[in-house]
Amino acid sequence: MTEPLKPGRTLGILGGGQLGRLIAQAAKALGYRTAALDASAKSPALQAVDVPIVASVEDRDAALRLAQACDVVTLEWELIPVPVLEAVAAARPLYPAPSVLATIRDRLTQREFLSKHGFPQTPYGAASTAAGWKYPVILKRRTHGYDGKGQCRLNSEADAPKADEVLQAPCVWEKLVDFKAEISVILARGRDGKTSVYPVAENVHRGGVLHATRAPARIPDDVARKAVKLAGEIAEALGHVGVLAVEMFLLHDERLLVNEIAPRVHNSGHYTLGGCKTSQFEQHVRAVCGLPLGPTDMLGPAAMVNLLGDVWEKGEPRWSALDGIPGATLHLYGKSEARPGRKMGHYTVVGAAAEAEFARADERLAALRR
Ligand SMILES: Nc1ncnc2c1ncn2[C@@H]1O[C@H](COP(=O)(O)OP(=O)(O)O)[C@@H](O)[C@H]1O
Ligand SMILES: [Mg+2]
Repeated sequence: MTEPLKPGRTLGILGGGQLGRLIAQAAKALGYRTAALDASAKSPALQAVDVPIVASVEDRDAALRLAQACDVVTLEWELIPVPVLEAVAAARPLYPAPSVLATIRDRLTQREFLSKHGFPQTPYGAASTAAGWKYPVILKRRTHGYDGKGQCRLNSEADAPKADEVLQAPCVWEKLVDFKAEISVILARGRDGKTSVYPVAENVHRGGVLHATRAPARIPDDVARKAVKLAGEIAEALGHVGVLAVEMFLLHDERLLVNEIAPRVHNSGHYTLGGCKTSQFEQHVRAVCGLPLGPTDMLGPAAMVNLLGDVWEKGEPRWSALDGIPGATLHLYGKSEARPGRKMGHYTVVGAAAEAEFARADERLAALRR
C-alpha cells in the first residue's frame, strides 16, 4: 500500500491498553476512525475507539473481524501470537510486520538478532541449565514478561533456589549490568523507510517498572548521537514501520548496551505528548498511515512521572497536589481497578519546572496518596 490513508478511514489497533488508547486519541485528532480489539470492554482503548471488538488478542477470528472493519492495522502490544498477526497481515496492511514481532516478542530471539548484527549488549544465553551463567545474573522469562514481571536476580550460585518459580517457563539469563543511567531512544520509521527521532530520554525504574523520565537526558552530546545512531540501525535492520523504542544502559565508561527493543510506542516516550511538537502517538499513526512524519522538536524540557495503582492505596488520590505546577498535565487511562504496580496514568511537566519536578517526584507521589 503506497497511498496515505485518507481521513475518515479506519485504523485498527490490536490490544486495548493505555498505549492503544493514546494511539486512538491521536488517530482521531488526525481525522481517522478507530477500532481496537481487547478481551475487556472496559479496557482503556476500547473506551476510546469508534469500533470496540471484545475478544482476546489471541483469537484469530476476532483479529480478522477487526481487520475487516479497518483499512490499516497496527498493534500496541508485542505479545500477540505470530499466526494471528500473519492472518491479519494477509487481510489488511499491518504495521509493523509480523516478522518484526517474531524477532522481538521472544527475548532470546531478540538478543540473537542483536548479536547477529553486532549491536552491543550484556552477555546472555538460554537459561535451560545453569551452565555458563555469568553471576550476578538476571533471569527473564522469554515471553510474557513486562514491567519487571517474570524476572529474578541471582548474585551467585547460592541464590539458585530463588529462581525456581521464574524457571517454570523458558528464560534467558543476562549478566547484571552496573549502569550509570538508563536511557531510551524513541524513533519512528515510515513505510518509505524515512526515520524521525526524539531527543534521548533518561529513565528511572523502581522494581523493574518505569518510575520517571526526563528529556533531554543529561548525557554528553556524543553519547546521545551514538544512542540515536544505534536505534536507527536497529530499526533499519528490523525493517520496522511505526514507532520503536530502544532501552539502553549507559555504563560508567560511557559505553552503551542495548537492554531491550519495544516495537511500539513506549512509556518512556510519554513525555512527547505535550513535550514535543508531535507526540509519539501521532507519529506512530503518521508512520503506519503513510503520512509524512511530524517535527519532533521539544517545546521545553520535560518530566514524566508514572502513577501506579499504589497511589490509590488510601483511596482517590488528592489531585489538588498537582495544582499550581506550571506546565503540568494529568493523563488517566480509564482503568476502574487500581492494583499495586498497575499503570493507572501519568503526569507530565513541560517547561522551566520540569527539572525540579523530576527531582521531587517522590514527594509529589506521597502528597497525591493523601
Ligand atoms: N541485565 C540487566 N542488568 C541490570 N539491570 C537490568 C538488566 N535487565 C533489566 N534490568 C532492570 O530491570 C528493568 C526491567 O527490565 P527489562 O528487561 O527492561 O524488562 P521489562 O520488559 O519488564 O521492561 C530495566 O529497566 C532495568 O532497570
Ligand atoms: Mg524494559
